[in-house]
Amino acid sequence: MILVTGAGGKTGQAIVGVLAAHKQTVRALVRRREQARPLRSLGAADVVVEDMLSRAGVARAMASVRAVYWIAPNIHPEEGRMGRIAIAAARAAGVRRFVYHSVLHPQTRAMPHHWQKLGVEERLFESGLDFTVLQPAPYMQNVLPYWDTVLSEGAYRVPYGEGAALSLVDLEDVAEAAARVLTGADHEGATYELAGPEALSPSAIARALSRALGRPVEAETVEVSEWVDRARAGGLEEYSVAALSKMFRYYDSFGLSGSPRVLQWLLRRRPTTFGEFLDRARRAGSGAGAPRG
Ligand SMILES: NC(=O)c1ccc[n+]([C@@H]2O[C@H](COP(=O)([O-])OP(=O)(O)OC[C@H]3O[C@@H](n4cnc5c(N)ncnc54)[C@H](OP(=O)(O)O)[C@@H]3O)[C@@H](O)[C@H]2O)c1
Repeated sequence: MILVTGAGGKTGQAIVGVLAAHKQTVRALVRRREQARPLRSLGAADVVVEDMLSRAGVARAMASVRAVYWIAPNIHPEEGRMGRIAIAAARAAGVRRFVYHSVLHPQTRAMPHHWQKLGVEERLFESGLDFTVLQPAPYMQNVLPYWDTVLSEGAYRVPYGEGAALSLVDLEDVAEAAARVLTGADHEGATYELAGPEALSPSAIARALSRALGRPVEAETVEVSEWVDRARAGGLEEYSVAALSKMFRYYDSFGLSGSPRVLQWLLRRRPTTFGEFLDRARRAGSGAGAPRG
């Protein structure tokens, strides 16, 4: 049995689906009961509802588990504490493999949610567990929520400018690589950067959207302060507002790029390009946030 945490989110669902397709028995840990049904339809054999900050809850989830695929909630102020709880529970339960879904460049102190992940990686090195760390770049799927504005206004509006070259990676490639690491041999002690094939600036993303849709799309930079006002009005909590603002400023100055070579080696094929991802997303058609152009 493989335990996947944070399983109700977009990363968790992708990982559970691919592991089930690889005929693995999966237990999914979710926060809310209503997240169970979609995970069962993706192939999870078992779904447990637990708080990742509860020692007792995490210990229950780890019982009879061979490996853990540990996904933390996105931009959580207590990811470090959650990581310590999970590592201690895995050790106590005799779990053999611990694969951590980290992030590209966790060494970046200027981005608090990256820096927290570096701390969890360090705890893993010292844990005595048989671990692997995966460090994915930002997902191509992050572009999908912009789709409606792209269609209605011909604008791809983001709170960073042309300096922000991002090695966007297809979450489906990340999930496939994760399944290979969990089911294959000789990945113990490894740290793998999982980056897409091209570092894309906002205008390169706009050009790809324009090609996929067959209509003009321009990249536009929104002030971070304007994004903050809208995020607060939408109810985003302050830790996330602060962490994301710092991330946008970092992206603007330095981008976030890596090499696709390790992902290519794990997949035994070239990673998906952004153009291929957009074509697939268009073919998939309707659904929340999905392209309909
Ligand atoms: N997005 C990217 O481009 C990217 C790239 C690299 C790495 N990552 C990393 O991937 C991880 C997952 O990101 P994601 O975008 O898939 O996140 P997500 O969609 O927000 O999913 C996280 C899940 O964790 C659940 N959760 C929150 N607090 C919890 C708690 N205390 N106990 C149990 N479950 C809890 C959430 O439940 P609710 O639905 O109830 O909120 C949600 O279902 C993050 O650590 C992120 O840093 C993301």
